[in-house]
Amino acid sequence: MLEKVKTKFVELFGNLDNTKYFFSPGRINIIGEHIDYNGGMVLPCAIDIGTYFVARKNNTNKINAYSMQFAELGVLSFDVYDENHTKNYSDFIKGIVKIFDLHFGFDMVCCGTIPHSSGLSSSASFCTGLGFALSTLNNNPISGTNLALLCKRVENEHMGVNSGIMDQFIIANGIENGALLLNCNTLEYKTIPFDLKDNVLIIANTNKKRQLTDSKYNERRAECDEILNIFSNNGYKYKYLCEINENEFDKLISLIDKDNLKKRFRHVVSENIRTIKASKALENGDIKLLGELLTQSHMSLKDDYEVTGKELDTLVLNFLKQEGCIGARMTGAGFGGCGIALFKKGFEIKAMEKVKELYLKDIGYEPSFYQVKISGGTKEI
Ligand code: GLA
Repeated sequence: MLEKVKTKFVELFGNLDNTKYFFSPGRINIIGEHIDYNGGMVLPCAIDIGTYFVARKNNTNKINAYSMQFAELGVLSFDVYDENHTKNYSDFIKGIVKIFDLHFGFDMVCCGTIPHSSGLSSSASFCTGLGFALSTLNNNPISGTNLALLCKRVENEHMGVNSGIMDQFIIANGIENGALLLNCNTLEYKTIPFDLKDNVLIIANTNKKRQLTDSKYNERRAECDEILNIFSNNGYKYKYLCEINENEFDKLISLIDKDNLKKRFRHVVSENIRTIKASKALENGDIKLLGELLTQSHMSLKDDYEVTGKELDTLVLNFLKQEGCIGARMTGAGFGGCGIALFKKGFEIKAMEKVKELYLKDIGYEPSFYQVKISGGTKEI
């Protein structure tokens, strides 16, 4: 893929003089969904599909960018101080330039191998990759947690999506064959070897064209703030819902009147507990327990947090009916995007065929399946 991006760069910008090359991964989240912004524990992995970049400084005040995935847009050229939103990927670039305070001209070609809208974090992959690339071109590479925090600001302040830190963090800090158990309150993390023993993980895309995702996402965040307000008005001051443990749960839920808020609260507290249990199960090689927790997480996201939708439910519930399935759930923001399923080795091929058939019958189009490796974080190549 990098070779293709280099060839395109030469075609558009003449030669490869002074260029640097970068790769930034995508991610799956094993468990811990919709709790990063509630200060909870999450268990994501970086994956070896992501975004490739070829870039160089051009000693002008112009940014010239070309994405092979959005070839129809041609080369986007704009001034280094341009902050106007145009509703294409240049908005991300403008946000990165502004938040990273890196106002210099550059030529860039990139290509993503993550299907757009698949919920595998193609936008965080792009943003984190370009932030790292530009800071490297500026001879001051920003990496790890600082890179993740700046990219989160691009998403929150420039793009208007109130995302948490999970995606940028795992993309910046991912390690080969390991998941990170990340505490989104303190940003402390622990590496958990990703060893599934005699089992395999399937990633399946609903192929649902996502709409309204961002507004639904922001709506869930607002509901969590409303719950914190209710507690605060009753004298219980918490910064994050995930500070609340099982013992305090019964007392606090009785303070909430609205049914939907009760359900959101139940998901958040229970998902945090499940994530800690799941990380221990993975560490101990108890894949059966891990699978059960994945399935419980899906049911909670379906019934209590209400972020799954018909397509993800059809995918996951059909996986669960197949022989050899140990557990399955949606991954990422939901409302479409991808699901993951754990299978005993040897059962996965038949299961994918069957799920494809059942999904097509119910939904009217096919899902896609991906084979990925657990990869390292954003890097120069
Ligand atoms: C999106 C956001 C993350 C996280 C997940 C849900 O991927 O970018 O911060 O909230 O949804 O867990």
